[in-house]
Amino acid sequence: MRRRALIVGASRGLGLGLVARFLERGWDVTATVRKPSPALSDLAERGPLHIATGIDIDDDDAVLGFANACADGPDFDIVFVVAGVATQAGIPAGRVPRDVATAVFQTNALSPIRFAEALHGRVAQDGLIVLMSSKLGSVSLNRGGGWGSYRASKAALNTLARSFAGQHSGARWGVLLMHPGWVRTDLGGRRATLDVDTSARGMVAVVEARLGQRGCAFIDYTGATVPW
Ligand SMILES: NC(=O)c1ccc[n+]([C@@H]2O[C@H](COP(=O)([O-])OP(=O)(O)OC[C@H]3O[C@@H](n4cnc5c(N)ncnc54)[C@H](OP(=O)(O)O)[C@@H]3O)[C@@H](O)[C@H]2O)c1
Repeated sequence: MRRRALIVGASRGLGLGLVARFLERGWDVTATVRKPSPALSDLAERGPLHIATGIDIDDDDAVLGFANACADGPDFDIVFVVAGVATQAGIPAGRVPRDVATAVFQTNALSPIRFAEALHGRVAQDGLIVLMSSKLGSVSLNRGGGWGSYRASKAALNTLARSFAGQHSGARWGVLLMHPGWVRTDLGGRRATLDVDTSARGMVAVVEARLGQRGCAFIDYTGATVPW
């Protein structure tokens, strides 16, 4: 039987790349987007792809509606919440508008955990909930600062994910916080060192190898541990 992945935030960038790679690996993929994405729809010719539109992870009603719609379907081996933003990331925390920093926190930290809370009942035995973090969210690696509100939002995601894993310590699945590398996307910019395909190949290999492992880990697209 094909393994099943749910990719959340798949319209472009890393989410889109992950869908392509999971399909290439023979997985059955469900992908969520806020608005229709022609690039995502084009991937349907590569394998079994189910697309759910109108899923904004900041919208609790949309997320709960999606969770309810999944209730009668088979479980997912991987639920991968990829969606994230870096709005005005270059503006220092002392000057970034409060509502912008708050929105970044909502999307990058709170909403992925709420999504995981809503969907964890649909994760298969030995499955994984993967949340897209960033090395910038590592507190111990932060020497020079920069990208303050984004950094803080990913550090908050890591903390919330460890709490989530702790609160579900008897669960039949594990939790991974993933650093995808520095990748050329709208968010990563043109100077980034990796292309989407290289990062997505690495991440899919890493999560396939970690199926069945419980607990909570922070790792990168090569499988290396990232310090908290
Ligand atoms: N690129 C890097 O170097 C890098 C490094 C470390 C971590 N990351 C993380 O990787 C993830 C993906 O980033 P990316 O580089 O692929 O960025 P991207 O190209 O800007 O794509 C961001 C994706 O997130 C979706 N999204 C944003 N807010 C959303 C919301 N409220 N609800 C649902 N979907 C939402 C976007 O959908 P729309 O098309 O609808 O806007 C888009 O699909 C993010 O969590 C980012 O923090 C990236």
